[in-house]
Amino acid sequence: MHRTFILKASEGRTSPDFSLKSLAGAAGRMDLVCRCIIAALHTPQGPDRDAEIVVVLEGEPDPPLALTFTGGRMERAPAGEVEAAEMVVLAMRGGLAGAKAERLGFEEAVARYKGLGYKVYYLHEQGRPSMEVEFAERSALVLGDHKGLDPASERLLDRVGAERVSLGPISYLASQCINVVSAELRGKR
Ligand SMILES: C[S@@+](CC[C@H](N)C(=O)[O-])C[C@H]1O[C@@H](n2cnc3c(N)ncnc32)[C@H](O)[C@@H]1O
Repeated sequence: MHRTFILKASEGRTSPDFSLKSLAGAAGRMDLVCRCIIAALHTPQGPDRDAEIVVVLEGEPDPPLALTFTGGRMERAPAGEVEAAEMVVLAMRGGLAGAKAERLGFEEAVARYKGLGYKVYYLHEQGRPSMEVEFAERSALVLGDHKGLDPASERLLDRVGAERVSLGPISYLASQCINVVSAELRGKR
């Protein structure tokens, strides 16, 4: 069961010039991005071979920029935020095995996975309870950042037939959602 998380990082900086000591500030909530990368890929045994995360960065200075981290091709997965941020910088510079950086916006990222035959899900508080969902063999799971998804992005997901899946009525951190879904789907391997 392969899963790709697509995170829309509306403020994530699109240049590797941010400070590793201030991920939550000028880096445009890169702390949130880093926690999501850890949640998607880290297991005690190494990178999750069945997982991938696409981070669509939409912040300054040159949006959009999509970073894809593919667990099956990575040598190691980050266990901490600074390590993850170092990997983000390397990925932006094209120097990290299993990662790539490309000019790809949110709409194109969703369309790519849809075109590859993935079933698209939108993680949303008001969706169908996740325990009732029979996730597809290849699942693309879309999340918003601290601001959630904007209405235009939600309309796009509706147009492509993304099913809304809920982890409950409480709004959790994006990284917590990735942890919960990963735990559920790893159990169904
Ligand atoms: C911190 S939340 C966004 C909160 C934001 N204040 C809002 O109202 O949308 C980040 C993302 O995690 C996902 N999420 C949060 N709680 C969830 C839940 N209970 N079930 C499913 N997805 C959830 C959604 O994709 C959301 O956009």
